[in-house]
Amino acid sequence: MTTPDLPAVEGAQLALISGSAVEELQVLLERCEDFEILVTGHPPDLYAAQALLTDAPPDHPLRDKFVIGVWTDQGLTAAVELLRDFPERHVWYLGLLLVAPEARGQGLGERILAALKPWIINQEGRALRLIVQDQNPAALGFWTRQGFVVIGTATQDLMDRTNQVTRLELRL
Ligand SMILES: CC(C)(COP(=O)(O)OP(=O)(O)OC[C@H]1O[C@@H](n2cnc3c(N)ncnc32)[C@H](O)[C@@H]1OP(=O)(O)O)[C@@H](O)C(=O)NCCC(=O)NCCS
Repeated sequence: MTTPDLPAVEGAQLALISGSAVEELQVLLERCEDFEILVTGHPPDLYAAQALLTDAPPDHPLRDKFVIGVWTDQGLTAAVELLRDFPERHVWYLGLLLVAPEARGQGLGERILAALKPWIINQEGRALRLIVQDQNPAALGFWTRQGFVVIGTATQDLMDRTNQVTRLELRL
């Protein structure tokens, strides 16, 4: 499937993050270490950005994985990780939406999601799924306000901890 151009977002420029922006992405991840610590218990390691660009579920082709950067006049301010047709055709999985701490609570996350919805629908996406860790109630509030509904719970096994998570879905 061909990938349409990324949408416009007011006050920001979206572009796929490639290897040449890996250092900028690493800086963003380190500025957002609060989130990484909340989820994993540790700050991001030195290879976090590289891993975000190249890690994909087994058998999921990298051409169906998008790491999208959101640049504002403050530089790289947010990042989104999306998997197309995962875990099944017509379902997309949002692995990450991360807004730099000083830019949170100003509607950027909502504008990014609103812009990406038609872009996903254009690629025959019918639903968007994600998980939220139970220790991140503010994110759960954000997603439910965006129309996501709870479709279940699960455990997330990480290297040295297990998170309880809520599974959410938005019909597109
Ligand atoms: C969750 C997140 C992506 C939302 O993006 P955003 O640009 O801050 O969201 P918006 O400004 O469009 O909406 C703000 C809402 O997000 C929620 N939110 C969640 N985490 C927040 C945070 N750390 N700071 C501010 N708002 C946060 C608030 O409830 C806020 O609602 P309010 O306006 O009623 O206070 C962003 O806050 C973020 O990156 N948080 C840390 C990483 C994270 O938790 N990502 C989601 C993983 S599932």
